[in-house]
Amino acid sequence: EKSECVSLSPMREAVPAPLEYERVCVFGTGDMGRSLGLRLLQAGYGVVFGSRRPHSSSLLPHRAQVLGHAAAAQSAHLIFIAVQREHYDFLVPLANQLKGKVLVDLSNNLRKNQYPEANAEYLQSLVPGAEVVKGFNTLSAWALQNGPSDANRQVYICGESAEAKQAVMAVATKLGFSALDRGSLSAAWELEDFPLQLFPQWRLPLRIAIGLCAAFFFYLLIRDIIYSYITQGKDISFRIMVSLANKVCPIVSLIMLSLCYLPGVLASFLQLYRGTKYRRFPDWLDRWMLCRKQLGLLALGFAFLHVLYTLIIPIRYYVRFKSTERTVSLIRENRTTEFDTTMAWRGDSYLSLGILGFGLYVLLGITSLPSVSNALSWREFSFVQSKLGHLTLLLCTAHTYLYGWNKFLRSSTYKWYTPPGYMLCLVLPSVVLLLKLLLITPCVDRTITRIRQGWERGADQ
Ligand code: HEM
Repeated sequence: EKSECVSLSPMREAVPAPLEYERVCVFGTGDMGRSLGLRLLQAGYGVVFGSRRPHSSSLLPHRAQVLGHAAAAQSAHLIFIAVQREHYDFLVPLANQLKGKVLVDLSNNLRKNQYPEANAEYLQSLVPGAEVVKGFNTLSAWALQNGPSDANRQVYICGESAEAKQAVMAVATKLGFSALDRGSLSAAWELEDFPLQLFPQWRLPLRIAIGLCAAFFFYLLIRDIIYSYITQGKDISFRIMVSLANKVCPIVSLIMLSLCYLPGVLASFLQLYRGTKYRRFPDWLDRWMLCRKQLGLLALGFAFLHVLYTLIIPIRYYVRFKSTERTVSLIRENRTTEFDTTMAWRGDSYLSLGILGFGLYVLLGITSLPSVSNALSWREFSFVQSKLGHLTLLLCTAHTYLYGWNKFLRSSTYKWYTPPGYMLCLVLPSVVLLLKLLLITPCVDRTITRIRQGWERGADQ
């Protein structure tokens, strides 16, 4: 295989390209054109650059040929257009040479909806005799020079002619990328929008996180700080910085962790209800399932903040002041306090459950990294993400229930008839855990397993 000879080491540059190498042409001698040309050469292609000034292009790879546009266009069937859209006009006079050629449009825009039609469609309208294929635009010059890695192995292409797309896909494969056909040229605007999107899978989880943080921040602000100011005239606004933050963070974390596992449970119930796995989930459930990883990682971030905030509790001025004041007043009143074993058990238990929960939480985060998850079999990955994931949720929920302890039953807990934040945040994880418990009871589990293996209710009659 020729493609296996591809190497990035300079040593290989001296090896002559095979005699029967295929020629491709690159228009454009900017970063993108040069990197693409180099990579094509390394993959064993003969490369001809088309340039306005063929004699002054000293930065080009030395094994490439540099010709004027017309001569370059004539020399190859496949032509990569690595030129900004504003300069496409130079192609119009080349219509004759470009007839029947495959033009690959690599261009990108600076912002969305910059032009009324996609760059590739505009190119096709300028050179109607050629076959335009949109592709490779999601790669950067840097990625091209360094060769594909796990994260950017995929390239998208689209175009009208199946043969033209085949030719472009063959080149992509030889360069070490896997090409994904996204359909006709009308999909080009979508491909051109890809590089402009900023963390698309993170958008929904981030919105959820910000929404939850804002909602709980104001809820706790009213319940804790404004309540104390109005009913007792005490200003405890300093608590916003640590106490309030150390409530908002774990609350949001626990809710987002349950949001991570809720769609899976809902999907199982849907399959159980429908009696088959061969029907698509509703779109909202699909989209929700696809952002579970991001939900989980954000939740881990909030749990991490909670742990950091908890670690600094003993060095807080307020905490040290309170504890000294208590000791002094005990001495002054010549009183002692009894050691309460139950409280010791309760305190140690909820802290220990929190620590165990956090430990597993971190494990879940690590196994969601592509380099780690790629090294796991599907069985191992689903064991960690599903079994250990639900165990994490259980531990964190138990941590919070134990933290609440007997406060659930005390009426003084419910200031202004509202429950504390941690009680509100327990609703969702408790529901998820209960539903999960139902799903793992033997008779339900048996049916689910049969459905997942392809069995359909009513199909065997
Ligand atoms: C509350 C410790 C991990 C959820 C607390 C509190 C402490 C604590 C000391 C009481 C805070 C206060 O008095 O204001 C720890 C430790 C952890 C840990 C040491 C691990 C190293 C977690 C994890 C979660 C979690 C992983 C899950 C998301 C909560 C919740 C509360 C809480 C919801 C109640 C917050 C409130 O007061 O409204 N934790 N925790 N904790 N923790 Fe943790």
